[in-house]
Amino acid sequence: MSTDIKSYIRTIPDFPKEGIMFRDVTTLFSDPRGFRMAVDQIVQPFAGQRIDQVVGLEARGFILGGAVAHQLSAGFVPVRKKGKLPGKRLSEDYTLEYGQETVEIHEDAFQPGEKVLLVDDLLATGGTAEAGIRLIERLGGDIVGCAFVIDLPDIGGRARLEQLGMDVHCLCE
Ligand code: PRP
Ligand code: HPA
Repeated sequence: MSTDIKSYIRTIPDFPKEGIMFRDVTTLFSDPRGFRMAVDQIVQPFAGQRIDQVVGLEARGFILGGAVAHQLSAGFVPVRKKGKLPGKRLSEDYTLEYGQETVEIHEDAFQPGEKVLLVDDLLATGGTAEAGIRLIERLGGDIVGCAFVIDLPDIGGRARLEQLGMDVHCLCE
């Protein structure tokens, strides 16, 4: 766990709804040292392991996931909100801390048996990540780990993913 990473993340109260304390990673991403540190720390536990694909969750998981994939010499696969992917796709519905959503993946995004690392900025209820996990598993992907910059431990997402048998890595709480 890094205390340093936290200093780059700002909290915006009442976004997107009153009562939500929004952890904003744009200030982490825009700082060259902060962004490098976040990507290096996400990659570190997986260095030397076979990772074929990094799956990033829209939207901030794309920014992190692209950099992580590059560093691991892996491919990058987006999990997108409904209606954005052009090819044939699989869908999963989920409940969010503040609403309902559907995410999708291209049905030919990778081959069964490929080693996959799931990446996103933040783990709250774990609903988004669980939907991503279901999509990856429906394609026959072998999930090596799930990595996030921030865990909100009181909301329980980490325990939820661990109950699914996932190896969960978070850089800060
Ligand atoms: C946020 C965050 C995660 C998700 C975490 O994305 O980036 O993807 O919520 O919440 P959960 O663990 O309760 O599912 P958001 O849904 O705000 O979408 P965006 O990235 O498109 O803004
Ligand atoms: N920041 C970003 N995404 C989120 C948050 C947050 O604080 N809570 C739930 N999803």
